[in-house]
Amino acid sequence: MKFIAIFVIALHYVLAINASPTKTKNDPDEMVIYQGQHDIVKIYPSLPLMEELQKRVVFFLEADINNDGSKIDQGLYVIVENSTTKLHDNGKDIDGDAEGKVFFACKEGIYTYNRKENKAYKYGNLNEGIISLAVENSSGIIYALTKNHDLYKISDNGSKLDVDNRVKNAQEIVLDKVDNLYYYDNEKNVYQVKDQRVNKIEGLPKNPSKMVMIKIPALVADVEGIFVLADDVPYFIYSNGTSIRSPQNFGLTKTKPTAFSAEGVLVFYAAVDKKLYEFNILAKIISGVFSKIADFFNFF
Ligand SMILES: *[C@@H]1O[C@H](CO)[C@@H](O)[C@H](O)[C@H]1NC(C)=O
Ligand SMILES: *[C@@H]1O[C@H](CO)[C@@H](O)[C@H](O)[C@H]1NC(C)=O
Ligand SMILES: *[C@@H]1O[C@H](CO)[C@@H](O)[C@H](O)[C@H]1NC(C)=O
Ligand SMILES: *[C@@H]1O[C@H](CO)[C@@H](O)[C@H](O)[C@H]1NC(C)=O
Repeated sequence: MKFIAIFVIALHYVLAINASPTKTKNDPDEMVIYQGQHDIVKIYPSLPLMEELQKRVVFFLEADINNDGSKIDQGLYVIVENSTTKLHDNGKDIDGDAEGKVFFACKEGIYTYNRKENKAYKYGNLNEGIISLAVENSSGIIYALTKNHDLYKISDNGSKLDVDNRVKNAQEIVLDKVDNLYYYDNEKNVYQVKDQRVNKIEGLPKNPSKMVMIKIPALVADVEGIFVLADDVPYFIYSNGTSIRSPQNFGLTKTKPTAFSAEGVLVFYAAVDKKLYEFNILAKIISGVFSKIADFFNFF
């Protein structure tokens, strides 16, 4: 459980950044890598691109969030090392594969990142508005959910489109690292799709008003599945379809992050108050900050 403990501690640390009114010498402002005019609603660091280019490569989406929770898109961006580029005016979701291909859900269909030109180009021939997408680890298959809640399975370099009838009323989709698909419906019930079966995940709160699904990163070697926040209460959903409430609540009642990503585990990103933070967990472990937090939670 050591990796999951690091993940949990990382999440706690990130979510607690606004909880403490007194600034320490580890002021989180030093970790701000971008500050914008809008909320940051999705962060996708591409680990394969970072490894290949030996640079920071982080994609993110900006939006204004209305009181009813609806979002007005304000653009899709990429940070390469220290410079930020706008790739598209609208964007609803970002995902990528183990080879560093990155895809974007947009109003006009799916776009993909061209690293040489640092631009986004239309991918395939789906021309509907896409609200959520999930990319399989290394098969080239993309799942795309349209604004009418139809799920497409896209293969053959974007040219083959199949409607996936297993999924009804999906609002958002995510794949775990072994390519099981999860979604939640209009009542925010979470389902797992395995072969031809759709299993409702039991043990989660009934009718939460907010549901967030996060892939458990590949580096967390001993756990397969996803992490969800149901009205800010954290749960693990394992790939065998069972769920447990997380032993920690990560200070979620105090801080309301608009987005975070644990893709890298050791380099971790979160957005609070229109700022994008980068946390180098390894540096923190070495500098002792994390061992204090770990001691506090009695993890190791
Ligand atoms: C990026 O910014 C950091 C912190 O300001 C600096 O140490 C680093 O040298 C910069 N990298 C490049 C390639 O400019
Ligand atoms: C994902 O794909 C990469 C590259 O093909 C492979 O090395 C890795 O084992 C895959 N991960 C999983 C969890 O299947
Ligand atoms: C995929 O499609 C793009 C754009 O049409 C093309 O440039 C590329 O060569 C294709 N790749 C493969 C493997 O067919
Ligand atoms: C499901 O997986 C979890 C995590 O690996 C394990 O703790 C649990 O016992 C499993 N439950 C069943 C019913 O297999």
